[in-house]
Amino acid sequence: MGAAPIRVEGLNHAFGKGRLRKQILFDISTEIPEGEIVIVTGPSGSGKTTLLTLVGALRAAQEGSVRVLGEELRGARAAVLENVRRRIGFIFQQHNLLGALSAVQNVELGLRVGGRPGPATLRRRAAHMLEAVGLGERCDHRPGQLSGGQRQRVAIARALVGQPAMLLADEPTASLDRSSGREVVERMKHLAREEGTTILLVTHDNRILDIADRIVHLEDGRLSTFTDAVVANNRHMMDLLARSRGNDDLARRVDGLDETGFAQLLRQLTNEAQRFIDVTAMANDRAFGGLLRQGLFAFTRKLAQLLDADRASLFLVRDGMLSLAVAEDLDSLGPVTFPVGTGIAGAVAASGEIVRIDDAYADPRFNRAVDRQTGYRTRSLLCLPITNRDGGIFAVAQLLNRRDGMPFSSDDEQRFTGFIASIGVILESLEVLDAGRARSQGGRA
Ligand SMILES: Nc1ncnc2c1ncn2[C@@H]1O[C@H](COP(=O)(O)OP(=O)(O)OP(=O)(O)O)[C@@H](O)[C@H]1O
Ligand SMILES: [Mg+2]
Repeated sequence: MGAAPIRVEGLNHAFGKGRLRKQILFDISTEIPEGEIVIVTGPSGSGKTTLLTLVGALRAAQEGSVRVLGEELRGARAAVLENVRRRIGFIFQQHNLLGALSAVQNVELGLRVGGRPGPATLRRRAAHMLEAVGLGERCDHRPGQLSGGQRQRVAIARALVGQPAMLLADEPTASLDRSSGREVVERMKHLAREEGTTILLVTHDNRILDIADRIVHLEDGRLSTFTDAVVANNRHMMDLLARSRGNDDLARRVDGLDETGFAQLLRQLTNEAQRFIDVTAMANDRAFGGLLRQGLFAFTRKLAQLLDADRASLFLVRDGMLSLAVAEDLDSLGPVTFPVGTGIAGAVAASGEIVRIDDAYADPRFNRAVDRQTGYRTRSLLCLPITNRDGGIFAVAQLLNRRDGMPFSSDDEQRFTGFIASIGVILESLEVLDAGRARSQGGRA
């Protein structure tokens, strides 16, 4: 893959001169890889549109470096700026369609900028693009005869019809209701994925954050470093996780680490997860959530391996119920839930005490239902509570059957406790993610 289509370094920007000079962007640095969808969020006036127009070569860069599609924009000649602009599709909050032209004629405008195809070709490609955004039947309508969402879709078709290398969108859903907003971004994403287009999208619409590969946050002209840090500083971890398509694959890689290596990796991931919890009040980063989920599964398995247990599993505790969140045969099991106080895990959730049992079937608290369901035979068991940062018990971790047939020792207990603190942080950040997603999917919020 070539150089990143967007690379911004040490970018400063100010409006006004002399005493009226006001700096808007401070030392912005970021890199957006080809084909990635990046959302810029941030409060009104934080500089989002300014940043977008700088990247789009619509405004002259004053200080720092803005490399877009292989060209340095700062100090670039007009012809260079023009050439870069031509390769970008723009979508603005107001759709900027021409009222006197039909939908298909508006879309044709997106092609005229690029080259000089004949009129028949123009019409065919424009009509095709309108079909792609679901407006094949509306080619001859004028903007005034279309709904807000339909108009915005025409704008998207116009932005994408010239097959731009990059799409810059400023609040494309601002004037749309929930479902048309969702449809507009889904189309955008779909088309972009097909063409490998890089997308930079400014929004404070929380309902669409989940289409992003990455979310960056601007506040008072400064980019928050969280997601960049994940990508840039933690290449190793991200590579490890991202390249592992399935849980098994990742688990196998993690299997190769020794205890020290594993502890290191876990600490890294824990730090990221911790930071994630700190900023996710605004973010809903699906990609990161997927990685965490994979990681959680792989790490739980790895724990079992390191502690020479046959299995490890995790339960989440919520509203007085435990639910099995990570387990070897979770898929075949279907949902497993039971109240706090029942079973060993339930007893641990209730008391907050670690429980170590040498012979499960001899303990009256042990619930054999899951064993019956899986055909597994639990013998020894080590079960401990996971507390969140406020000290509340929100999960329970469990090791089953030491491989050598011996009961779990107090040494096992200590090592398990050490690792589980990290796993707890990851688990907690997933909880935060899931809660955020539930919020953004349900209700009218
Ligand atoms: N052409 C301009 N001249 C002077 N000041 C400007 C100009 N454009 C923007 N500003 C100021 O720069 C700051 C950032 O503006 P910008 O439009 O980038 O914010 P934004 O994050 O896009 O906000 P919003 O979410 O409301 O669209 C604001 O304080 C704004 O008043
Ligand atoms: Mg703006």
